[in-house]
Amino acid sequence: MKRDVRILLLGEAQVGKTSLILSLVGEEFPAEVPPRAEEITIPADVTPERVPTHIVDYSEAEQTAEELRDEIHKANVVCVVYDMSEEATIEKIRTKWIPLVNGGTDKEPRVPIILVGNKSDLRPGSSMEAVLPIMSQFPEIETCVECSAKNLRNISELFYYAQKAVLHPTAPLYDPEAKQLRPACTQALTRIFRLLDQDQDQVLSDDELNAFQKSCFGHPLAPQALEDVKAVVCKNVVGGVQDDRLTLDGFLFLNTLFIQRGRHETTWTILRRFGYGDTLELTGDYLFPPLHVPPGCSTELNHFGYQFVQRVFEKHDQDRDGALSPAELQNLFSVFPTAPWGPQLPREVRTEADRLSLHGYLCQWTLVTYLDVRRSLEHLGHLGYSTLCEQASQAHAVTVTREKQLDQEKGQTQRNVLLCKVVGARGVGKSTFLQAFLGRGLGHQDSRDPPEEPITHAIDTLQVNGQEKYLILCEVSADSLLANALSAACDVACLMFDHSNPGSFELCASVYKQHYMDGQTPCLFVASKADLPEGALLPGLSPAEFCRRHRLPAPTPLSCTGPAAPRTAVFTQLATMATFPHLVRGEQPATSWLQVTLGAVGAAVAVVLGFSLYRVLVKSR
Ligand code: GTP
Ligand code: MG
Repeated sequence: MKRDVRILLLGEAQVGKTSLILSLVGEEFPAEVPPRAEEITIPADVTPERVPTHIVDYSEAEQTAEELRDEIHKANVVCVVYDMSEEATIEKIRTKWIPLVNGGTDKEPRVPIILVGNKSDLRPGSSMEAVLPIMSQFPEIETCVECSAKNLRNISELFYYAQKAVLHPTAPLYDPEAKQLRPACTQALTRIFRLLDQDQDQVLSDDELNAFQKSCFGHPLAPQALEDVKAVVCKNVVGGVQDDRLTLDGFLFLNTLFIQRGRHETTWTILRRFGYGDTLELTGDYLFPPLHVPPGCSTELNHFGYQFVQRVFEKHDQDRDGALSPAELQNLFSVFPTAPWGPQLPREVRTEADRLSLHGYLCQWTLVTYLDVRRSLEHLGHLGYSTLCEQASQAHAVTVTREKQLDQEKGQTQRNVLLCKVVGARGVGKSTFLQAFLGRGLGHQDSRDPPEEPITHAIDTLQVNGQEKYLILCEVSADSLLANALSAACDVACLMFDHSNPGSFELCASVYKQHYMDGQTPCLFVASKADLPEGALLPGLSPAEFCRRHRLPAPTPLSCTGPAAPRTAVFTQLATMATFPHLVRGEQPATSWLQVTLGAVGAAVAVVLGFSLYRVLVKSR
């Protein structure tokens, strides 16, 4: 909405422009008037819409054509004044003044115009008959007011209409020729209707209408008012009310009625509350509220955020089977301009055949919030978070975690979402590893035909020390890390080489030396394809020897064939290492348990490992 309003008065000489301004300001008809009134500014608190308003006079005798053009350019609304007792001044509206304001160019949006018939004291009847054809010819004319500077009739109304034309313009909402809402307005109101329809039954119950009324206007409707509204709709629209509840057609009709009765500020209030700007698009301010994320911090949905998205899930899970079918998901997406999550979704989270469980759905929200919080805020905006939750913005749903450095100093993290980079040479089995994380073995159809775009993330939850954590696996090629093309930062690094091809270890070792040797990030070497025979050893350090020298856990053998159970241990191990970032260096590999003594916490965590069974004892720093 505009922060201030600039009103310009134009019209033939002697129609009373200067007198209208002076009558408004002085509250009496001036006996003598200068050719041109000084520009006046009315402070916000004395105007009906509470915005500072500038009123600008024009005098042909005092101003050049260029000055006039300049003033028109600066104006938010133009009042074209005519003399009701002089027909010739009406004719000039069409032939001179409107073309001067909006003509000649195809500029959109057009400057709104108010027609002002002055000197009503000199004419007994109305000038409407002469003015109506002009109003229907030029859609930018918002309204027409008849007034008298002499009798002080309709003077403040005139300036109120002008202010309203700027703050709540009709043109974007309504097509006066077709006498119906414009498509963009219908579309916006339809989205709002869907958001308000909590139970997805395509109608608004009294409760839903009241919740809506309260979030837009701050108070519920009186029971009688509610009945009156429904009665009006019922009388005018077939199917506008069904079983005593308001349908979409009824809702659109109500808004049309507001506009036709000159109460379009009501419709604007609704639209603005749900994020729409003057062009009926969701504004950047609404979709992308400021959220400061300092370097080293991550972003997670908080309790409010999860609660909200879960409510949205439940609302769309029409058959109450705990998962969204493609049709149900489509329906959830209907309030977005385009589907927020693309076809890669089933490769990023667990799905059940083609259905998205609540678990997979929450994982996806978590992933987007972590990787691209702006997008997550935008999605929450499309779902109406701030309005439906009565909060200032979607930022309320997001927590910014403390800096990673602090976590390292304290020896523990408050983060619920942890990032693991899975680094390795081409073909070592990174994508297979990511899919195995989502419970899909090598034989799974999805892992057999890789999509065009290499998937780079997979997310799931794990129990770490009795707490649920989200773990994101992010696939990164070793080459891009060695070329410093991508960031190596993460909570734990999984360095993967092919057990049947020891040459692939070289790259992992180089990545380790280049990025992780400082010991800030826990690292786990994983020997993939452990079901295949071990390749011939190359000269130099063996992987096991390398890890021993660098006081790293011994390489964990991993096979993605066969039963899934042994593999889950490695994911838990990665999540555990990420949760306790100070537990970086280990002792010599030993027996059958990974036992981590938590100096800081004083508790012991035991994690069973499938293949590589060893013991790491670490003291806190
Ligand atoms: P320019 O500055 O020459 O463009 O004229 P203007 O449009 O500013 O008109 P102005 O206010 O100077 O008024 C012109 C004459 O009309 C003055 O003599 C006013 O007193 C008179 N006048 C203005 N408003 C009214 C009105 O409402 N009723 C009557 N009867 N006379 C009016
Ligand atoms: Mg004047």
